[in-house]
Amino acid sequence: MANVTVIGAQWGDEGKGKIVDWLAERADVVVRFQGGHNAGHTLVVGGTTYKLSLLPSGIVRGTLSVIGNGVVLDPWHFRDEVAKLAAQGVTITPDNLHIAETCPLILPFHRDLDGLREDASGAGKIGTTRRGIGPAYEDKVGRRAIRVCDLAHLDDLAPQLDRLCAHHDALRAGFGEAPIDRDEIVAGLREIADFILPYARPVWLTLNEARRRGDRILFEGAQGVLLDVDHGTYPFVTSSNTIAGTAAGGSGLGPSAAGFVLGIVKAYTTRVGSGPFPTELEDAIGQRLGERGHEFGTVTGRKRRCGWFDAVLVRQSAAVSGITGIALTKLDVLDGFDELRICTGYTVDGRPFDYLPPHPQDQARAVPVYETIEGWSESTAGARSWADLPAQAIKYIRRVEELIRCPVALVSTSPERDDTILVRDPFAD
Ligand code: IMP
Repeated sequence: MANVTVIGAQWGDEGKGKIVDWLAERADVVVRFQGGHNAGHTLVVGGTTYKLSLLPSGIVRGTLSVIGNGVVLDPWHFRDEVAKLAAQGVTITPDNLHIAETCPLILPFHRDLDGLREDASGAGKIGTTRRGIGPAYEDKVGRRAIRVCDLAHLDDLAPQLDRLCAHHDALRAGFGEAPIDRDEIVAGLREIADFILPYARPVWLTLNEARRRGDRILFEGAQGVLLDVDHGTYPFVTSSNTIAGTAAGGSGLGPSAAGFVLGIVKAYTTRVGSGPFPTELEDAIGQRLGERGHEFGTVTGRKRRCGWFDAVLVRQSAAVSGITGIALTKLDVLDGFDELRICTGYTVDGRPFDYLPPHPQDQARAVPVYETIEGWSESTAGARSWADLPAQAIKYIRRVEELIRCPVALVSTSPERDDTILVRDPFAD
């Protein structure tokens, strides 16, 4: 297994950025394979904080970075993010960053539609990032998308624009919005094409060649398994498949390419946006987790909802995603609690469940069954070996492993990359 696929095993924001950066140093290629600039990955390298939402994390260290076909790309955001990182001294060129020619583009009217729908949904809103992710994926599956390769054929765009505008203008009319200004769209695409096209490549080819050479490929998932459009808390999910299996299809490699699947798991649970969250704590404990864990969204700045660790959900994520081992993050946020709780099952109207039932109403009514574990008073922040951890913290980790039926490969004890306990090196497998 020369490759590693990193995915979030909860609702996103598990601390993937640090782990990906830690692994990226030893990877030859880092690949994003789904999602878009809805992701928020924070890396701290040499005391500098980098916030990425679209670019693969490897770019900060100059590792070859690839945006695969499974990603939806906002070309203007891409340009801004490249400029922002350049201002922090990161060199990004078509030599170290490739974009799949087949990536669908996120256009301004996708963002409009995302916001219009959310505003019109009242209590039923998903709480999206309003970045046009969902509408862009809809157009991809509806076979109407404008893709990166179309930027080299803008004189032939009229028939595609006809179909796209016919679809969107009908939707916009329903919201009382003016039709799309086609000239403005084409002018915008002409203006951005020269910036994007040098990065456009047949990345499936680059990656297959890398694989044949035996290069180490690191796949960087975005969001988390519980936001997967098939396996997540539908409809309160994102619009892509966030499971590890997407690494192959979203980049142009076969299913065996995923290699070691590393699920990133926070030592408690958080969620941004709406939707069921059985172990949510709307009390002083939830508040304390949020404050100690600095739980604010990287992309939207929204306050994250916080709750106890839910072993049922992570066991389910590990199963549907084929997780080989987990990286447990933010353990230090649990320091100083007299006791901790772990959810080991649910009841819905008195009926027991050892998995999350699929219907949103059952999910919303699921009452957690908790197991209580004694806490620890010592600090775990900055621990770099098991010997640095209090016995109770080790007990907590061992119980998590048992309940989710998956071993710990790494424990992260602070945002600093070296504050990590390595149990099993994913690249060494
Ligand atoms: P969308 O991906 O913008 O369509 O948002 C759909 C749902 O996914 C919302 O609940 C968002 O808050 C959530 N979401 C999207 N990206 C992320 C992420 O990177 N971390 C956590 N939640 C996310």
